[in-house]
Amino acid sequence: MASIDVLQDVDAAVSRLAAGHLCAIPTETVYGLAANAGDSAAVARVFEAKGRPHNHPLIVHVAGVSCVGDWITQLPEWAVVLINAAWPGPLTVVGPRTQLATDAITGGQDTVAVRVPAHPLTLELLNKLREHNILGLVAPSANAFGHVSPTTAAHVAAELGDYLGAHGDAILDGGPCEVGLESTIVLATGEQPVILRPGAITQSDVERITGVQVTSVTDSAPRVSGALASHYAPAARVALVSAEELEAHAQTGHQVSAGLIALSSVPTPTGLTRLCSADTARQFAAQLYSAMHKADQLNLEVIYVVTPTGSGIERAIADRLARAATEVDG
Ligand code: TXA
Ligand code: MG
Repeated sequence: MASIDVLQDVDAAVSRLAAGHLCAIPTETVYGLAANAGDSAAVARVFEAKGRPHNHPLIVHVAGVSCVGDWITQLPEWAVVLINAAWPGPLTVVGPRTQLATDAITGGQDTVAVRVPAHPLTLELLNKLREHNILGLVAPSANAFGHVSPTTAAHVAAELGDYLGAHGDAILDGGPCEVGLESTIVLATGEQPVILRPGAITQSDVERITGVQVTSVTDSAPRVSGALASHYAPAARVALVSAEELEAHAQTGHQVSAGLIALSSVPTPTGLTRLCSADTARQFAAQLYSAMHKADQLNLEVIYVVTPTGSGIERAIADRLARAATEVDG
């Protein structure tokens, strides 16, 4: 079995991507599985590697605000204010696409998703790629479709290492991701922002920065893959409980191996393996996926999760946990 190349060096990642290979890249949110957005064969391989349906569009990652015009034809004034304030950062905007944004990237939609990630290695990578006339990288989270997103290079290697290694692809190791949850996705085609996926940039952040109220629209198609009922799921069963319910659940379930994800203020009942140590909701978000990966490494059967409550990043946490806890086909 071919082993996967884990790179420490941006120039090595530039060569790999310019040669048409895939390279997993660090971002502040989660690791992405990147390909040259202008290389349709490489883009097709991203879908193959993940087992991702082709109608689930990809995010184009670019080097800075000035690159957005390569991909999006126009943005309302509030969105221009928003990207100038939030980029580089955990925000994706969806706007009308240019000709560079092919059907392979957008799943045939007339809009495209774009973001500037806040990670020094990946920003350097994106800047250097422009010298090779590569104007953006498509990068979905570097996990098999429906699974938990990776927040370390080791998570990527564990999940996709065999496929990537066999195809001469690589991972650029940029350390653990600071935010730990996927970017906030904002639809920027109307007079008001619509949040398609909650993230670390919260609704109140968007409203404060833009001075415009967030609205909601109903849309039939699953434009956001993370919007499917079951997603972000570990192998272990995720049981969402209140702090009060936890003790009782832990006692009745003592015959199964179980872990706990909760804020430090929640004590660990006897018999449960604590999977994270977070004092704040931000720390909880940063450790959540890592804790789920750890549960699977330990072959735990159940993960009890006490979800922090609040209207900031807690909304993104609750969104991902609700999907992780939903079982399809029983
Ligand atoms: O933080 C992130 O956004 C990470 C890192 C790697 O940047 N990327 C990520 O990619 O989460 P992915 O592919 O796992 O999720 C991208 C989401 C999908 O749910 C997709 O449906 C949505 O972006 N998306 C892409 N293009 C869209 C469009 N034109 N309209 C609506 N949603 C779109
Ligand atoms: Mg994903």
